[in-house]
Amino acid sequence: MIIAVPRERAPRERRVSLVPETVARLKKLDHRILIEEGAGVASGFSDQQYREVGGEIAPSNSQWVADADIVVIIQNTEFDLSSPYTSLKPGSMIVGMLAPLSAPPESFEVMLNNRLTAFSMDAIPRISRAQSMDVLSSMSTVAGYRAALIGAEQLPRFFPLLMTAAGTITPAHVLVLGAGVAGLQAIATTHRLGAVVQAFDTRPVVREQVESLGASFLTLEIQTQQTQDGYAQALAEDVHQQEINLLSKPVAGADVVITTALIPGKPAPILVTKEMVAQMRAGAVIVDLAAETGGNCELSQPGETVVTDNGVVIEAPLNIASQLAPHASQLYSRNVFNFLSHLFSLGLGQEGKELDFSDEIVARTMVLHDGQVSHEILANRMTQVRS
Ligand code: NAI
Repeated sequence: MIIAVPRERAPRERRVSLVPETVARLKKLDHRILIEEGAGVASGFSDQQYREVGGEIAPSNSQWVADADIVVIIQNTEFDLSSPYTSLKPGSMIVGMLAPLSAPPESFEVMLNNRLTAFSMDAIPRISRAQSMDVLSSMSTVAGYRAALIGAEQLPRFFPLLMTAAGTITPAHVLVLGAGVAGLQAIATTHRLGAVVQAFDTRPVVREQVESLGASFLTLEIQTQQTQDGYAQALAEDVHQQEINLLSKPVAGADVVITTALIPGKPAPILVTKEMVAQMRAGAVIVDLAAETGGNCELSQPGETVVTDNGVVIEAPLNIASQLAPHASQLYSRNVFNFLSHLFSLGLGQEGKELDFSDEIVARTMVLHDGQVSHEILANRMTQVRS
């Protein structure tokens, strides 16, 4: 098959969907890989590195992807009517983080009208056999690590306990709110840097994981639930208020607060109010990883650094995974390779065979096929926009 790798064009995007390592593996399976010129440069991979493993560098013109069977992207930002993807033949596949729950529904219209088949990597089910394809976990790992470093860099104090000839320096206190994949990585990294780490999550099952990383789990007496998929559910308003009240004291005592709380398909819950920020000490830092969906801190400005009147620094980075673009791209690319290998094993590209659409991974990730929207929530969102 012919697999195409475009240069990403979204603001702040530095990642590339396939790195040379993966191109080499796909070549071994006898596929042709077209790479738009300069696609890997922002993540540190030159056109020459792609050529060396058998990739074909394609000029950026309106027809460069016309022959592709599969286009692998990071973000769904290309699909306006002037996009070269309008030249793709019906039935060609788009694989990327298409965000069917949150991306503007209009951004799917060109793919739909061109009868493309679209797979959303961020909809990979959280089941064991799909773990190696789980891009959300990969990107959250990068985000959690990077958040810990941002916290350490902004804090005008040491993280570790230091015993010096001039006396002892006490360690920094870090509070991590939300202990999913990103939160756990933030805990592991801040703990390795020597901070004393506390964490809280509304899913009590994560207590053991938090403790195994050397942090203590904050016990807050609130009623919580999780979905069958293991995700958090939005809290009832009174429970949410209870959580905020109970978090006030630990937040006020922390040097660094890293927030990672998300509810799939919903705005991020506010966990740190402006009143709580007012109680924090000068020089304290908040790193809000939920900025893409509004933020966990009431004072966060997505993409900006805010310094409050009482001297608290609030960082709310956007597309934080792009700050570690080479490794973020490498992880993403490996996830995509595992996903494509799975599709090949189910018949994709095999002479006389059709892809097995009943497979759970295929069914849960496919959002568009043959001129139809096959993702229920996206279908509803698109209908709402049209009416
Ligand atoms: P996420 O990114 O959707 O959310 C981050 C964390 O925020 C979650 O742990 C959630 O419980 C927490 N949260 C939400 N509202 C909160 C609130 N009001 N206060 C405090 N914390 C709050 O979660 P992520 O990282 O995507 O993980 C979701 C689940 O999926 C976890 O159980 C994780 O262990 C599981 N998982 C399973 C995988 C597999 O089996 N293949 C792979 C990766 C994750």
